[in-house]
Amino acid sequence: CGIVGYAGSRSAQDVVVGGLRRLEYRGYDSAGVALVTPGGLVSRKRAGKLTNLDKLLAEAPLPTAHTGIGHTRWATHGAPNDLNAHPHLDSSGRFAVVHNGIIENFAELRAELEAKGREFASETDTETVAHLLAEEIGPAGDDLAEAVRAVARRLEGAFTLVIADGEQPGLVVGARRNSPLVAGRGDGENFLASDVAAFIDYTREAVELGQDQVVAITADAISVTDFSGESVEPSTYHVDWDASAAEKGGFDWFMLKEIDEQPQAVADTLLGRYAADGSLQLDEMRLSDDELRDIDKVIIIACGTAFYAGLVAKYAIEHWTRVPCEVELASEFRYRDPIVDRSTLVVAISQSGETMDTLMAIRHARTQRANVLAICNTNGSTIPRESDAVIYTHAGPEIAVASTKGFLSQVVACYLLGLYLAQVRGAKFGDEITAIMHELESLPAAIRRVLDDGEQVRELARELVDKRSVLFLGRHAGYPVALEGALKLKELAYIHAEGFAAGELKHGPIALIEDDLPVFVIVPPRGRDQLNEKVISNVQEIRARGARTIVLAEDGDEHVVPYADHLIRLPRVPTLMQPLVATVPLQLFACELADRLGHDVDQPRNLAKSVTVE
Ligand code: G6P
Repeated sequence: CGIVGYAGSRSAQDVVVGGLRRLEYRGYDSAGVALVTPGGLVSRKRAGKLTNLDKLLAEAPLPTAHTGIGHTRWATHGAPNDLNAHPHLDSSGRFAVVHNGIIENFAELRAELEAKGREFASETDTETVAHLLAEEIGPAGDDLAEAVRAVARRLEGAFTLVIADGEQPGLVVGARRNSPLVAGRGDGENFLASDVAAFIDYTREAVELGQDQVVAITADAISVTDFSGESVEPSTYHVDWDASAAEKGGFDWFMLKEIDEQPQAVADTLLGRYAADGSLQLDEMRLSDDELRDIDKVIIIACGTAFYAGLVAKYAIEHWTRVPCEVELASEFRYRDPIVDRSTLVVAISQSGETMDTLMAIRHARTQRANVLAICNTNGSTIPRESDAVIYTHAGPEIAVASTKGFLSQVVACYLLGLYLAQVRGAKFGDEITAIMHELESLPAAIRRVLDDGEQVRELARELVDKRSVLFLGRHAGYPVALEGALKLKELAYIHAEGFAAGELKHGPIALIEDDLPVFVIVPPRGRDQLNEKVISNVQEIRARGARTIVLAEDGDEHVVPYADHLIRLPRVPTLMQPLVATVPLQLFACELADRLGHDVDQPRNLAKSVTVE
């Protein structure tokens, strides 16, 4: 969910709704605002996307106010309807609460409140908080922050809460546990939000809020305490991208813009990592070389697209370091009693840095004394803060729900980690590191080439718009690319799509092949390993059974030409670099197909960019 709070002198409605627009990628099942006017609290909320709330606010305008909160929801408890939309108010209508996360003990709390005669209007866990505040504010006096602390201490689970009090214009209070919240320090105005994108138009000074902290903002002050009321000196940081980075800039969709930004994202992730003396520099590394030398196993944990970045990375990390590398879905990791100890390096990959499954997995790893390194695109987010080391991907803000530049920059960051491990562990290939860095540095130009050739893929998508099933095949580092190509199509076009290891096809999935079924095949570069020849045989096998083959093959690979119904050329790069170019046409394909089908490419149904529940 996306959350915004404002205290200042502007129109709170404009700031809050504008902020929600920038956060809508976090959830778009419903949206709402509450404003504190001199006459008390006023609120509007509506199921569906933010435009529905815009319409409601136009039909039934709210009075001007300078304090407000807002929410854009990804539903967990209660259907995504008007009633369950946030903000939630207590019965007297004094307190408005917006919430991200899940309050695990809400049923108990609700029963307790109902026994006291409190009536609930919604099915949400959030409403409990509004009623608890109403109970608390009397005994605690009128100190809203104190009441919020008292309530927060009673809650179990994950939450970001932002609260407005109809009797205290000029004040907004937030609380966080296991869920994102950041403050923005302006000049005569202050902000609260799930991420800095919400207030980047007004300020770039961000104030980090830690776990189990309560923050109160007024126009002039931001004060932070822990849940017991001890005051905390928060650290601040400067957001180094500007508002235009969070705008579409002439593209129809954020996703298209982000696909197009991939050469830059890769270049920026590499920037400054390679010193003049040939050594790799990862300055956010808080693990010593000695600790890294003691590592005997790497476990990568991640979700969704980030998981596929991890699968790609495994090939490179094991090849370069000779250290075993496992890749595991974060949601599976801690429940199977994994074998992890102080000589394990757990690598958490997360674009947002807030994915709850991944966060819980690293917490488990830390209890087992593993070293945890985060690969993350979001400065100051929870996962890097709870890790021993961080490699930031510098892809810039990723707004479209389906990850694109996030993925490529994650693969690059993992490669840097692999090279770094190889370097500190004194792997036999000194000069090879330089050669591989040069290969990485040549990628932005190669990706740009693929983008420039994009029209061919878009044309193909238009041709295949009626297909209800598409398969993707790859081998070696091309296998995760096939999985990612299929995921993109599921996420955006809502059609059946599956990725398979090309060599595994004959062991079962080949039965799926029927006349005119589109099958993308990522053909590995020609090399000494015979992979190219093996995959070309697979192309022949499926074509003989009627498949419509869409072959991605490097420039100059002529062997595959007779078996390709459609041939997409890729720049010649080494096998381990191929995922970084081969993924791009698959992203474009999914984007175009979804667009043709009339879907919202940036905000696919049922999904959210940052899933902060388990
Ligand atoms: C969500 C998104 C996916 C994303 C995954 C992991 O499910 O819809 O696109 O890949 O989360 O997100 P993260 O921020 O941890 O990389």
